Amino acid sequence: MSKQNIYDNELFFENFKRLRGEELNFNDVIETPIILGMMPDLMDKKVLDIGCGMGQHAMQYIKMGAKSVLGIDISEKMLAFAKENNSAENIIYRRLAFEDLEEITETFDVITSSLAFDYVQDFGKLMKKIYNLLNVNGKIVFSMSHPISTAYDGVYDRYTRTENGKRLYANLHNYGIEGIRKIHWVVNGYELYHRTFSTLVNELVSAGFIIEECQESKLPEEIRKSNEDLFGGVIHQPDFIFFRCCK
Ligand SMILES: C[S@@+](CC[C@H](N)C(=O)[O-])C[C@H]1O[C@@H](n2cnc3c(N)ncnc32)[C@H](O)[C@@H]1O
Repeated sequence: MSKQNIYDNELFFENFKRLRGEELNFNDVIETPIILGMMPDLMDKKVLDIGCGMGQHAMQYIKMGAKSVLGIDISEKMLAFAKENNSAENIIYRRLAFEDLEEITETFDVITSSLAFDYVQDFGKLMKKIYNLLNVNGKIVFSMSHPISTAYDGVYDRYTRTENGKRLYANLHNYGIEGIRKIHWVVNGYELYHRTFSTLVNELVSAGFIIEECQESKLPEEIRKSNEDLFGGVIHQPDFIFFRCCK
């Protein structure tokens, strides 16, 4: 698989939009608070948001003082939603795949990405391109699915459960084998790449980055306990991993 664009599939897009718009969703409850907490000071900074989707983060970065945000995404549908719902004078949305980053001729103070790098075939190559687009001392802050969460075959239940269905353990499948995985998420046959933790770290370092911070998804206990069905797995298995690195 290279350059997949499942977000422009009508059924996938509609289902994703519904999930993303629910009051309690993994993006707003888990991902966004952690990545915002890891951001450097954005005041007057030039920001590139890779896989910007519906533009919620781009808008947030403007509210945090960014001078400008360029949001790129492969999906026309996601960008159309972003332009309609998360526009500002200093946000530009552009249709561009992260595989084609070299088409961008300007440089940035902060490059960020939320949950889009699951779809990149060559993570190391992408990190090198991002390094080249950063100004001196620039930062990359990103989230993606956690290697423990992508070590899944999509066939068996992700959890070993008690007789009454309570999650006991998260199951890992072929953690050591990297590459494409097909699972059921939003639609059948959803594809993403699995990579081990050490591959992520080593490819960031090979690209030239200094890793400043790494986080794994977590949730306040009261939220997890009050929404056990939705968030009960978080205690067994981190869904997302986050890095902040410096050039
Ligand atoms: C899970 S969504 C996340 C959207 C947004 N960052 C957020 O956090 O709400 C993943 C996004 O990555 C985009 N994407 C997937 N493959 C891409 C590629 N090759 N180049 C650019 N964007 C891509 C999708 O179109 C989608 O908008």
